[in-house]
Amino acid sequence: MKKMRVAVFVSGSGSNLQAIIDASIPSIEIALVFSNNPDAYALKRAENHGIPTLVINHRDFKSREEFETEILKHLEPLGIELIVLAGFMRILSPLLVREYNNRMINLHPALLPSFPGINAARQAIEAGVKFTGCTVHFVDEGVDSGPIILQAVVPVLDEDDEDSLLQKIHEEEHRIYPEAIRLISEGKIRIEGRRVLRKP
Ligand code: GAR
Repeated sequence: MKKMRVAVFVSGSGSNLQAIIDASIPSIEIALVFSNNPDAYALKRAENHGIPTLVINHRDFKSREEFETEILKHLEPLGIELIVLAGFMRILSPLLVREYNNRMINLHPALLPSFPGINAARQAIEAGVKFTGCTVHFVDEGVDSGPIILQAVVPVLDEDDEDSLLQKIHEEEHRIYPEAIRLISEGKIRIEGRRVLRKP
């Protein structure tokens, strides 16, 4: 089977990148790890596994569009078929989102559509919900608003603070993100409106 060529976009630690690498998904090749942050530890993780890396600092550009045009210039020759946002902390403009329509996924540390945006675990604690979790979704032009592929539930216990909750959420993320990538790259899902369904 031809391997799907994947670029993973990171900005920080990259524990989800590590989980994707460790999952050794036979149907993908991680052809690139891209970061907007030159100091992202995720870049080290990629280098440790011999995965090509690219850093383009958004601060060097006047607009999101110019930044993304530069990114696209590098993705095209690599034949990237799927962009995986794994702790990538820049909001993307319609330029990149449209180019990778239904071919870009994101991971969010809450059960969307609850608690989009930043500090999702803190938002969950402050809202007093008894369950939160994580969501893998396709990226559309909104913030954390695209069709949902997989979710996992995490209970919020009385003794939880933001850190302990995030730790539990991360464990689930590390399980469902590789699984979602596997489903997509094996052609096992289809999108119907806002619903992402398993193919029979
Ligand atoms: C993950 O928890 C992911 O859900 C979150 O950033 C973390 C990255 O961790 N993403 C967002 O909040 C996107 N809005 P990692 O760098 O260890 O993979």
